Amino acid sequence: MGKKFFIKTFGCQMNFNDSERIRGMLRGIGYEPTDNWEEADLILLNTCTIREKPDQKVLSHIGEYKKLKEKNPNALIAVSGCLAQRTGWELVQKAPAIDIMFSSFNMHQLPELINQAQAGYKAIAILDSPPEDEDKVWEFPTERDNPYCAYVTIIKGCDKNCTYCVVPRTRGKERSRSLESILEEVRRLVDDGVREIHLLGQNVTAWGKDFDKPVSFSHLLYEVSKIEGVERIRFTTGHPTDLTDDTIEAMADIPQVCNALHLPFQAGSNRVLELMDRKYTKEFYLERVAKLKENVPDIAMSTDIIVGFPTESDEDFEHTLDVVRQVEFEQIFSFKFSPRPGTPAESMEGHVPDEVKTQRMSRLLSLQKSIMGKLSSRYEGSVQEVLVEDEKDGKLVGRTTTNKWVTLEGGKELLGKLVAVEITKASPFNLLGEVREVLR
Ligand code: SAH
Ligand code: SF4
Ligand code: F3S
Repeated sequence: MGKKFFIKTFGCQMNFNDSERIRGMLRGIGYEPTDNWEEADLILLNTCTIREKPDQKVLSHIGEYKKLKEKNPNALIAVSGCLAQRTGWELVQKAPAIDIMFSSFNMHQLPELINQAQAGYKAIAILDSPPEDEDKVWEFPTERDNPYCAYVTIIKGCDKNCTYCVVPRTRGKERSRSLESILEEVRRLVDDGVREIHLLGQNVTAWGKDFDKPVSFSHLLYEVSKIEGVERIRFTTGHPTDLTDDTIEAMADIPQVCNALHLPFQAGSNRVLELMDRKYTKEFYLERVAKLKENVPDIAMSTDIIVGFPTESDEDFEHTLDVVRQVEFEQIFSFKFSPRPGTPAESMEGHVPDEVKTQRMSRLLSLQKSIMGKLSSRYEGSVQEVLVEDEKDGKLVGRTTTNKWVTLEGGKELLGKLVAVEITKASPFNLLGEVREVLR
């Protein structure tokens, strides 16, 4: 009987893409995936530490998974990702059931670490910085659930040091992946039937800045779009200060680039933005959005917002609401500020009480609900291009280029096809539609 693995992933799309690569890697050394952790020989938790909540979740999961060892004493528990990188041995002391630990710096070492753990050693490989051979990881294929849309990591790490954020500590400095390596992966994916490429990084818009001969992110967009078979391109996340005019122009110029952009603004008050060290003002952010809307009409914007940063007053928060009102985001991801160990914001004065954060959050969400109602009604009666991605309960589902989910009637032969769909009913989270034409 072959060995089985079970992976539980927390956090952002980068972490999910790392898990997809770990899946490919484990397959390569003879493991098969399972959805039931109780029958696994290897359980891996790919962790996140962006806020306090995900930290706590990991410990409670390990508490449950360690029961596996009673039935299967040779079973291994591995922890990877950002919490592993931030806490290292400290976490192993809290949860001694951990056999293997590594981070996004050294995923490629997993096969060796498994060997060490099988030989009875604790294989804890947390490094201060990424090793020189970290690019080896790109040699492993990813294993994905969605056959038509694929993530491709193009840049690792972050150089920004926002005062609330752990990511520069857990993912290291910005390292752009080489153009050749990215294009090679995209070609491989397209040969495999993928039609939508989603470029990933903590700050994708900084791609290419760290090369000996720096190149712009827009160059990468053009190069990816030239690959035959790439029908759609998305990218996440961009930072407002790196969203240059040439990138906006490339978004307008390249037909495959989707009409959607996730551009976090975090807070509307210039005073708070300065405390966060975001390096832009409310006016700068709004100007970038205006430029985007002018060049890419109908663009669907989404964003991240932090509520209750230290010292945030009601007046500061009004500026956050004002940005939401002015931009009219299709989607917002809002988070209560969570102090992270070792970050400058943790030790700032003026922490905002939780009740105030809750109140502000609910004001923000009710404003957003009314905006989403208004935006979604615009879709009714329109014809949208949809990539049919999946079948659920006998219906087909796919996304518009603006990243809205659409439910359709139709046969399995439409899976993976781009179709023109007339929207018959629109609600904030889902659209219903009828296929008018199969495009390609
Ligand atoms: N690189 C991306 C976001 C990375 S983290 C960017 O800079 O935009 C994803 C989101 O988590 C952030 O955009 C922020 O809104 C939120 N976040 C990060 N640290 C946080 C903290 N300490 N408390 C609450 N939210 C936080
Ligand atoms: Fe964190 Fe700021 Fe970097 Fe985003 S840009 S990952 S919020 S430090
Ligand atoms: Fe979390 Fe690390 Fe992503 S902290 S949000 S998994 S970069």
